[in-house]
Amino acid sequence: MTASSGNTRRLVLTRSAAVIGAASTGLLLPQIARAQGAKVRVGLMLPYTGTFAQLGVAIENGVRMAIEEQGGKLGGREIEWFKVDDESDLKGVENANKLVQRDKVDVLIGTVHSGVQMGIHKVARDTGVLNLIPNAGVHAATRALCAPNVFRTSFSNSQPTLALGKPMVDRGHKKAVWITWKYAAGDEAFEGFKTSYTQAGGTIVKELGLPFPNVEFQALLTEIASLKPDAVACFFAGGGAAKFIRDYAAAGLKGKIPLYGSGFLTEGVLDAAGPAADGIITTMHYSDSLQTPRNQQFRLNYAKTFRMQPDVYAVQGYDTGLLLVQGANAVKGDLGAKPALYKAMESAVIDSPRGKWTMSKAHNPVQDIYLRMVENKENKVIGVAAKALADPGTGCKLA
Ligand code: PHB
Repeated sequence: MTASSGNTRRLVLTRSAAVIGAASTGLLLPQIARAQGAKVRVGLMLPYTGTFAQLGVAIENGVRMAIEEQGGKLGGREIEWFKVDDESDLKGVENANKLVQRDKVDVLIGTVHSGVQMGIHKVARDTGVLNLIPNAGVHAATRALCAPNVFRTSFSNSQPTLALGKPMVDRGHKKAVWITWKYAAGDEAFEGFKTSYTQAGGTIVKELGLPFPNVEFQALLTEIASLKPDAVACFFAGGGAAKFIRDYAAAGLKGKIPLYGSGFLTEGVLDAAGPAADGIITTMHYSDSLQTPRNQQFRLNYAKTFRMQPDVYAVQGYDTGLLLVQGANAVKGDLGAKPALYKAMESAVIDSPRGKWTMSKAHNPVQDIYLRMVENKENKVIGVAAKALADPGTGCKLA
């Protein structure tokens, strides 16, 4: 089982051959595809290049591993995979339509970047295609623009940071600088941080930002040094996060001004960041070191299968696979039976490596948020920062 592009090419070729065959015998492909027993068409729209490339791979690995563990089928039907690299680039509508209009997928799994997600979201709302969001936390998707056919298996952007402010103040850090990429994910993570930090009695002395996916941190780090806050809190992820951690240490700030963050800062980057990451404290809905049989078995299987360590993105992909299997099994593979499919997914209990979680009414996970500290290339749990935290789902009109 791999996530190689060779695999994709083979799948696409097989499909082209099927199209030619169908056309020459006068059969209509969409009818074949929808017939019971035909393969379920699963589309993956993820970043496979750019600063979030590793996140896309981890998510795909997780999805495939979960489905494989559950027998490799969806409600008894085999799967045909389709893949698009969205490059975390704002061509979301165009790329989503490649899967929905051209490839006629039954379900679109994607994506990572909140801005790109809004493109997928438009296509999902316009066409009614089932969309499972394995990462992007953009609030609108499960708030004002929530939709019956859109389910998120990850988090909302403010969920992790709503649990971050209090532990910082509890540790005596009353004046903080916030720094992030200026786009929906960073801005909405800030919303959660501002609420939790000020409610706990902290003061945000400065908000700093740079455009996504810029990694020229130097001038901003110099500014932080001169502001001398008690602590810094941030949102960064992927390749950019590894560089931020290294640059923070290289600027002489590590050990002087404690670094906190939404937990993505230290996910999937601990090898690349090295000792510069030690001591960083974050809040997140997963931790490598959860001592549960479920997590330990997951980590072992993932490491054996993919020869790499899983991170939160792999877990989110895995849970996406579990949710899809549960939904598809409930309707015996008939993904067109929408009310029954949605009902099954709304009432699913996902037995995740992060701990069991359920869907909120607006289709976002209700989940525990852990407090973690990096130690020897591991995100170690040091506490539970919030129990069964739900996004408010403000403005969502789903029943
Ligand atoms: C997002 O754009 O929503 C996003 C991207 C990467 C993360 C988390 C959120 O790690």
